[in-house]
Amino acid sequence: MLRFLLLLLPHLVASTNANLFATPPSVSNFGSVKITWPNTIQPVQGDYITYRCGPTTNLQDEIFRCVLNTTTPTPTDNTPGGFTGHPPTYTNNHCTFYSLVNLRCDYVFSYVRNNATVLADVTVPLSDSEFTSPTQGHLAFGDLPSDMFVSWVSGSRRTSSVQYGREPHQYTRSTPTYELATTYTADQVCNYPANTTSQSYWRFPGYFHHVLLQGLETHTRYYYRYGNDVDGWSDERSFVSRADSTVASVKFLGYGDQDWDEPGSVQTAALALRDVVSKGYDDFVLHFGDLSYGEGDVSDWDHWATQVEPYASRSPYMVSYGNHEYDYVHGKWKDQTLLPMRLPNKRTAPRPAPTPQQDQHDQHDQHTEAQPSHDDSGSFSPPGGNYGSDSNGECGIAMVHRFRAPSNGRANSSGSLAWYSFDSGPIHVVQMSSEHDWLKGSEQHTWLDQDLARANANREQVPWVLLTAHRMMYSSQLCEDSDNKTSVIFRQNVEPLLLKHRVDVVMVGHQHSYERTCPVQNGTCVDGRHSAEHGVVHITAGSAGAGVEKCGFAPNVAYSLMKSDQWGYLRGHATRTNFSIQFVSDALGTVWDEIVLSR
Ligand SMILES: [Fe+2]
Repeated sequence: MLRFLLLLLPHLVASTNANLFATPPSVSNFGSVKITWPNTIQPVQGDYITYRCGPTTNLQDEIFRCVLNTTTPTPTDNTPGGFTGHPPTYTNNHCTFYSLVNLRCDYVFSYVRNNATVLADVTVPLSDSEFTSPTQGHLAFGDLPSDMFVSWVSGSRRTSSVQYGREPHQYTRSTPTYELATTYTADQVCNYPANTTSQSYWRFPGYFHHVLLQGLETHTRYYYRYGNDVDGWSDERSFVSRADSTVASVKFLGYGDQDWDEPGSVQTAALALRDVVSKGYDDFVLHFGDLSYGEGDVSDWDHWATQVEPYASRSPYMVSYGNHEYDYVHGKWKDQTLLPMRLPNKRTAPRPAPTPQQDQHDQHDQHTEAQPSHDDSGSFSPPGGNYGSDSNGECGIAMVHRFRAPSNGRANSSGSLAWYSFDSGPIHVVQMSSEHDWLKGSEQHTWLDQDLARANANREQVPWVLLTAHRMMYSSQLCEDSDNKTSVIFRQNVEPLLLKHRVDVVMVGHQHSYERTCPVQNGTCVDGRHSAEHGVVHITAGSAGAGVEKCGFAPNVAYSLMKSDQWGYLRGHATRTNFSIQFVSDALGTVWDEIVLSR
């Protein structure tokens, strides 16, 4: 049905029979296409080429446009920035559009004049995949060291599998999806505008598939592919299974605030792939909030997930919530991050493929059964803080469906991403949510206290403790006064736990820059972490691609040792005796700062 609707689209928007020309006539996933117009059309100031995919409400309801008659095309109104760092380019007789991804519909390009009249158009299908092809693969740790989730997106809901083995292209084992593939509808999103069906907000997001591989050997490479015989199979990828405490060395990446349509987003993704594939930083990736900057725009999620797939499918991609995924002001009764996810027992047999009747029912009712009330309030907002509506009402629903993580966080949860922890070799990692209540007495605060206490008591086995959050507790960034006021409240409530349980390092994002503190306690540098007065090193790396900060940093802030408004990301290397953390500059591709902690 969806494809049928899309085939109607050119007739809905076109008012003439003129054709644009697409080169190539079909586009590969993440490929580029050049759009040329016929000689009968002479561009005038204000003309533009727009493109869209799927149901649209009016001519201005578009994904992106290429403005003609200028040498510097400018992104406009309701569109996200350029395309993976490359805005559409205009020359004398064509526009080139970059990085088009599988949105489960054909692209339609239209030549528009006076913001009202379509002079010509052309439909461009995907050349190398169908709407049902498995895409956007990524990995995640499960509850046990021998677990690994494989997750992906497809236009198909058929039961699928992961085929895997120890040698390339020799799949000795196969595990089917343990849960029914899910999706979400516009009316399941918390509030406007994310619940608007349009090019810029909700469109059919596809079906989200998750397979839990079990019984993997420790720190062992596996080769795999995902899909099924009807919808097709992914390319082969490989990963190294989780390191247990007998593994003395792990290497990982960490960052926040990536986005997908900025030059820094593209460069971070390229360097991350380099480090995962060629430099051994493949034990896991930590993305502490602000992932796609979708804010209700499903196509942003598709673009970002396609961009990170090359390394997220080769290294467990462990995520937490940022304000741009979660914060909202109405519709709490729909907030799926507050509910135990409605998953069947993942250790039982997979569910059979749904009947058409079940399919309709499940699409509409997923995750809604346990809603306790019709509470229409907003998300967590501590008094004096600056929490608002930065998800545009998306309220975490995209992440709930897209990602998996260990389920040791929220009580009685079977897979909530809100907060969780895991061990990998010599390091214990806690990914908390700065967007869910962390005030003293809250569920998360209590869990954090207990989890960190257990980790601190287990130093013989796992010597390092790392905590991540989206928002920072310490920052000297200028031009961000409201964030800095919030950080003081965050610090007042959570820092006592860090000190009590001797957390080694905190990594955060939110500020689009890099900053590293001394070992700090209550705002004061202390004499290293070996003193009786324990200090925690706080590192901000919200520098993975979203628009970089420009104001610099306050002078003479004693705890702030290194800082820079630039794009980059973190590399971690933990052994039983040393914990090295590097900041890699996107511009240089090399290490710009490094700290090594020793035990
Ligand atoms: Fe943020």
